[in-house]
Amino acid sequence: MTKLNLFRNRPVAVIGAGVMGVGIVQVALLAGHPVHLFDVREGAAAAAAEQLLATLARLADKGKLTPEDVAAARGQLSVATTLADLRDCALVIEAIVENLGVKQALMRDLEAIVSQDCVLASNTSSLSITAVARGLEAPGRVVGMHFFNPVPLMRLVEVVSGLATEPAVADAIHLLAQDWGKTAVHAKSTPGFIVNRIARPFYAETLALLQEQAATPAVLDACLRGAGFRMGPCELMDLIGHDTNFAVTQSVYEANFFDKRYQPSLVQREMVDGGLLGRKSGRGFYRYPEAAGKTIDGDAGTPPPPAAPLVLHGDDAMADLLAARLAASGLGFTRESTAAGGETRLRIGDGVLLLTDGRCAAERAQASGTGDLALFDWPVGPAAAASTTPVVALAWTVASQASPEFAARAADVLRALGWLPQRVTDVPGLVVARTIAMLVNEASDAVEQGVCDAAGADAAMTLGVNYPAGPFAWLAQWGEAATVRVLDALDAFYRGERYRVSPRLRRATWASNSPATR
Ligand code: NAI
Repeated sequence: MTKLNLFRNRPVAVIGAGVMGVGIVQVALLAGHPVHLFDVREGAAAAAAEQLLATLARLADKGKLTPEDVAAARGQLSVATTLADLRDCALVIEAIVENLGVKQALMRDLEAIVSQDCVLASNTSSLSITAVARGLEAPGRVVGMHFFNPVPLMRLVEVVSGLATEPAVADAIHLLAQDWGKTAVHAKSTPGFIVNRIARPFYAETLALLQEQAATPAVLDACLRGAGFRMGPCELMDLIGHDTNFAVTQSVYEANFFDKRYQPSLVQREMVDGGLLGRKSGRGFYRYPEAAGKTIDGDAGTPPPPAAPLVLHGDDAMADLLAARLAASGLGFTRESTAAGGETRLRIGDGVLLLTDGRCAAERAQASGTGDLALFDWPVGPAAAASTTPVVALAWTVASQASPEFAARAADVLRALGWLPQRVTDVPGLVVARTIAMLVNEASDAVEQGVCDAAGADAAMTLGVNYPAGPFAWLAQWGEAATVRVLDALDAFYRGERYRVSPRLRRATWASNSPATR
């Protein structure tokens, strides 16, 4: 096969007239293909086709399509009554039930019908493409074409290659997806592919923090929204449905031979067992329809000036951020350089406010001999802006050795700096730092293991799940040394497999010249 788009204007079949199948039909039709739609359920394909044409007509009413587009789509769409009707197709995309045996049987049936150069694509989100292709005479023509829901709106397509997939087939599907207006990313068939794998820690870290009673769902959501995520993990899990989210986590965990890094959460299983599935059941972490329980404390506003003098030590970007926010706050402060290798810190009287490096506040208080010690989370996205609008949440904590007066003063200072300080218990890596470090770690392992490249990981996470930045963009911002320090601290604290550092990241810390305190 050549780089030319083999499929241009040739018939495409979609099997499965569910939410994904119909979305794929819409995209293929509007790209100009004749499309056959088939579903095993009597009447399902015809009903879905009618509904789709009505949707396209509505889009034309709103001016998003032309009447000619709709007329052309109507002329190009046909409902197949048997698989034999698909014999002229250049490409068949299956979006049927997520069951390996059923998908394998369908592929075998298709192989007996379609021509030799017809590509067989699967929209599976969790099954191995290698396994789907097993037993076929020509397994090289089977490839994953993993769309995201809703298909017409989500730009990402993961093009998944199994062991047998011919590279030319994957390349042709990659090109086709781009022609259809999508951003295609190559992935190796491994559990969760790219997005469903790298995204696991986004949920897992919050579920772990909830299990440790570190903070409420509302606080955790607010802190991650403060880092630029459109939704926090709890509200997102409520939207996806805890049954679905738990099933994906479980399937990735089992597929990885029960690697503890992917271990599902008791908190979530309890919710699934109790039928607290999220929005669809009226209750998850929040109550619906009004999402009750989402409010957090922490009025923005100018607090009384702290009684203690403020001295900012540091010369790095974090010190500059604190200086800019201190200047905007109107609080008087002095700025001094740190000794070589010294870390950025804000002295509040005899106490100290520091950026988390992954260790607990109590541990750092003990190591430094300063009991009055507070830590704040990694400012990321909106929380990292020098401007204090919008005011966003930022997690912080205080050592158990600290006096209540110092804790109150530290909170006042954080508020004056323009954040909504959210106190969490003294957990390692607070909220955003541990979540981002773990997302980066997972992405690094995906690249280390040849699942995707770094650019593919960033594109997949920003387009497939709307992350505000890709993991490698965060890594470029925070550096390998700081990221690995957070992971090592988590690993040392919890002792287990979950926080082991990706070999790729570890090697990078040795190779980079970034100073240890970056
Ligand atoms: P769905 O349940 O809405 O639709 C599946 C359709 O396939 C049904 O209409 C069913 O009658 C039909 N079907 C089942 N077995 C069949 C067979 N042997 N031959 C022909 N038709 C058959 O499912 P949905 O959500 O559209 O998912 C379809 C596929 O897409 C699954 O593999 C799923 O993992 C994958 N996927 C789903 C996403 C989602 O958000 N729902 C996202 C990405 C992938």
